[in-house]
Amino acid sequence: MSAVVEVFDPIPSWGHQGEVLVLERPAGGLAAPAEYEVLGVPVALGQVPAELGLTAAILRAAGFEGKVGQTMACGGPDGRPAILYGIGDPHEADATVLREAAGAFAGAVPRLGRLAMILPDRADEAAAQAAVEGVMLARYRYATLKREESSVPVAALTLLSAPGAVDTVTRGARRGASFARATALARDLANSPPSMLTAARMAECATALGTKSGLEVEIFEHDELVALGCGGLLGVNAGSADPPRMIKLRYVPAPGVSGGRLTLVGKGIMYDSGGISLKPSDAVHATMKNDMSGAGAILAAMAVLPELGCPTAVTGYLMCTDNMPSGTATKLGDVLTIYGGTTVEVINTDAEGRLVMADALVLATEEPTDAIVDIATLTGASVRALGAEIAGVFGNDQSLVDQVLACARSTDEPAWQLPLAGRYRREIDSDIADLKNMGGPNGGAIHAALFLKEFVGALPWAHIDIAGPAQNDVATAWRPRGCTGFGARLLAELALTFTRP
Ligand code: BES
Ligand code: ZN
Ligand code: MN
Repeated sequence: MSAVVEVFDPIPSWGHQGEVLVLERPAGGLAAPAEYEVLGVPVALGQVPAELGLTAAILRAAGFEGKVGQTMACGGPDGRPAILYGIGDPHEADATVLREAAGAFAGAVPRLGRLAMILPDRADEAAAQAAVEGVMLARYRYATLKREESSVPVAALTLLSAPGAVDTVTRGARRGASFARATALARDLANSPPSMLTAARMAECATALGTKSGLEVEIFEHDELVALGCGGLLGVNAGSADPPRMIKLRYVPAPGVSGGRLTLVGKGIMYDSGGISLKPSDAVHATMKNDMSGAGAILAAMAVLPELGCPTAVTGYLMCTDNMPSGTATKLGDVLTIYGGTTVEVINTDAEGRLVMADALVLATEEPTDAIVDIATLTGASVRALGAEIAGVFGNDQSLVDQVLACARSTDEPAWQLPLAGRYRREIDSDIADLKNMGGPNGGAIHAALFLKEFVGALPWAHIDIAGPAQNDVATAWRPRGCTGFGARLLAELALTFTRP
């Protein structure tokens, strides 16, 4: 192992997030006394903040109308700088709008670390949460490997609540800080270069995080996976110089708290070269360090469940290995035996995610649980179908799918249901084994989902394909370019609100 790898910290954000404070704004006044470098002031469509000495003509000259995403710098109430941030129609300024608006505010002052932000008077708990998420996530940078960065991290964020709303805003702000921290952790993991974050290193990270946050962590190494018979994970690992890891996480609610039981399964391909079905060296291949984004989202979401007092008991399986070509790699035509005995003919080694997930899905059915949700950067076909910003959701239980979709709406991690079309099931029949790992040329996201369905038995199950939204090429308000951490907040929200399907 090189010296660089030894000093490399795969989760630089953890424990280094800026502090979040809440102060009550005095009635009639703009800002409470607080230590800050810039004050964010919400402005609705067409509103003129006369208390800052501004006029409609000045706003017009700057092109500032109060639309969501617009910002304008001006002098603040006490001589310090202020940023007007647009919130659009104040009656439609919900959590999603506020996350966006807060992200624009934070993005407008990349060199300032101490921010104060006046919340709109009507802001509820969810809006306060979203404001914290927007600010923190807009300023997230993967900076560990850079000598210089053009923006500084947020050191402190003070939310200024409407008079009387301080308790509500504080509850939201606390959850927002946890949710933002989870997303930053998921981004860190996915942004890590593949030789720096191997499966073994991922397991070390999970162990360290588990100790710090209050999760039980069990690591299964190569020989234990052989003894168990996890033929999917081992088959994908066969070409690799780095050993595989199955990471089992467990969150147990405090005694007396009883909710449902949820099992999460994540694809943890630390790097997907395609294996013998080698990918071309193109732009998509160059993002394949993020092929562990599903596993990263689960680890990140579960790491904040203890501090949030989540009532649901959650078990997570992270299936970690890279997918490499070599003389020992799985060949096309090889047959793997998944944990539990199902045989799979490998006709394309680049359809590896479903193979590693299958072992864990069967393991998940062997312990008492109310539902299984898996998350994976599984298919390019889902990106074709839904574009790069929307996740595909499949499932065998509509009420569970509906819970996933509702959480996706609330965290603004957009997801759309696709059909688990049984009519295509024959396309993954094999001549010599129980299944093959790929169907025909069309409907690839559906084939992958149908493949996974074979391993969950009769349990309620939902599958989230995040191949598109795990990464973005174009930065938006609170999603800088690179790995997005998509799914971490969605899964945390699902665990917090989960009801037995
Ligand atoms: N990790 C990829 C899926 C992917 C593709 C994620 C593009 C992000 C962007 C997955 O392992 C894969 O290679 N899937 C193949 C499946 C095919 C061989 C059946 C695909 O989508 O092409
Ligand atoms: Zn993959
Ligand atoms: Mn692949």
